Amino acid sequence: MPNSRPSTVLAAIFFLAISFDHGLLSLARAAEPPSKAASSTGTRPAEALPEQNIFYDTTNPDYARLQKANESLAGLPLDKRGLVDWMKALGSGAITPRADLTGTKKMEILNLDVVMKHTKEMPYVTFPHAAHTQWLSCANCHDKIFIPKAGANTMDMSTIFRGQQCGVCHDRVAFETFFSCERCHNVPHGEIKAWW
Ligand code: HEC
Ligand code: HEC
Ligand code: HEC
Repeated sequence: MPNSRPSTVLAAIFFLAISFDHGLLSLARAAEPPSKAASSTGTRPAEALPEQNIFYDTTNPDYARLQKANESLAGLPLDKRGLVDWMKALGSGAITPRADLTGTKKMEILNLDVVMKHTKEMPYVTFPHAAHTQWLSCANCHDKIFIPKAGANTMDMSTIFRGQQCGVCHDRVAFETFFSCERCHNVPHGEIKAWW
């Protein structure tokens, strides 16, 4: 897994080790991060985080010209983990991404939810096209990642944690799966009640 972050790999091992039998709901509840829960309504502060320079060569003469992460992210809404909630940022108009380089094209937004029911003891998954097509084109997913037909793709968490299917983006450029079960698994059914 060359492009996986260590935390994701650990999360995947932990998940795989205990998920295949019972206790999935308690696992999901346990995945609620205890310490940062209070930041769900917060926004990103303007101060620099100590680790924000790990991606940069600070000895590069042009480093001073780079906009720093704390400058570009200041004021953006945070999720319950304390990371930027990009859907909220988009919805509130805090960011307005362009459809193309020149800013002349419009995104082709598709308002179609697909509910996925192979979720064992977990709430069903909703795949929201509207959330995705505000910044991704159909060709980002169809047909290379997903056949565009409800139920045509066989998915499970081990494959997602390994960086395929939803995991092509989630855990990489989109929100982390391990701490956000309920953002995908959001349709309670039968005995299973919402815990979030
Ligand atoms: C990015 C979206 C997403 C997130 C976040 C997510 N899942 Fe899933 N999950 C899926 C999809 C998609 C499926 C397959 C559904 C289908 O094929 O009908 C699935 C299936 C499952 C299944 C049944 C298949 C299997 O792997 O055993 C379980 C159990 C499950 N998820 C548990 C979890 C738990 C626990 C969490 C949080 C730690 C979680 N999921 C977070 C998208 C997600
Ligand atoms: C982020 C990935 C992604 C993007 C972008 C995306 N789709 Fe999908 N699409 C999916 C997934 C996942 C499914 C469900 C597949 C399944 O259930 O196995 C789906 C299903 C579909 C279906 C089948 C619906 C049904 O009821 O059978 C159609 C049609 C479709 N997409 C069209 C589009 C079009 C048109 C666009 C662009 C406007 C688009 N999709 C963009 C992931 C995506
Ligand atoms: C091609 C990249 C890509 C793939 C593949 C993908 N997503 Fe996403 N997804 C995104 C991006 C980008 C966002 C918005 C950024 C964020 O929320 O972190 C997003 C957001 C979401 C949201 C948040 C909606 C909200 O309103 O908060 C859900 C739910 C979601 N994805 C579910 C899924 C599921 C389920 C799958 C697999 C069936 C999937 N995604 C596959 C890129 C992707």
